[in-house]
Amino acid sequence: MSIKLENISKVFQTRYKELKVLGNINLEIKDRGMLVVFGKSGAGKSTLLNIIGGMDKPTSGKVTVDGFDLSSLKPIEFAKFRKERIGFIFQSFNLLGNLSAIDNITLPVILDMDKNKKIDRIMELAKEMGIKERLRHRPGELSLGEQQRVAILRGMVNSPGIILADEPTAHLDSENSSGIIEIFKKLNREQGVSVILVTDHEGIASKFEERFTLGTNS
Ligand SMILES: Nc1ncnc2c1ncn2[C@@H]1O[C@H](COP(=O)(O)OP(=O)(O)OP(=O)(O)O)[C@@H](O)[C@H]1O
Ligand SMILES: [Mg+2]
Repeated sequence: MSIKLENISKVFQTRYKELKVLGNINLEIKDRGMLVVFGKSGAGKSTLLNIIGGMDKPTSGKVTVDGFDLSSLKPIEFAKFRKERIGFIFQSFNLLGNLSAIDNITLPVILDMDKNKKIDRIMELAKEMGIKERLRHRPGELSLGEQQRVAILRGMVNSPGIILADEPTAHLDSENSSGIIEIFKKLNREQGVSVILVTDHEGIASKFEERFTLGTNS
């Protein structure tokens, strides 16, 4: 999947003042591309990823996905597009506390005809990520790093065309972090999944060939 951002700006209206977080961002990720978005805390990385994933709207500018202007989609079309094409891995996990890890992971595909195939594939990845033995635990019964890996798996379960990953290795040790990056690279290489990963960690960013750096604007 290809994504193009043209002159994207984002201004938050706060009680105190207008806060300009993104100013005229132009970036492009080609079909089957991988890109790291790098920047300090507060630089606007999550804001940018939320706009790409349709979780938030830009104040101005245009987002094009596979040639389609996102703003032209009706809400229901947009929801379908997001469910079928995008795998979003949230910085703060957004797991449901009263569901087990496996139920959290499989929730996005529960009504899919081919859910068994998708679930089999995700179980292999769970094994690779070292959390297969924890899938019956609820989020509160998992370590932070384990919760993060559950959130990563949930973002992958719908076989997305693009993975948008917000600091997906922030709570992982270096061995597990490298393992996750390798899984993204493998999905990219073998299945053509595009990946945009956000990080403030130079060691993670350096594993990517293409980098977009966000500065602080305020
Ligand atoms: N809904 C909002 N209303 C007002 N200000 C906001 C809102 N969301 C984010 N901000 C501000 O926008 C700036 C960028 O936030 P964002 O979460 O995108 O940063 P980030 O680069 O992801 O940081 P981190 O590395 O800490 O996750 C911050 O200074 C934040 O306070
Ligand atoms: Mg963030």
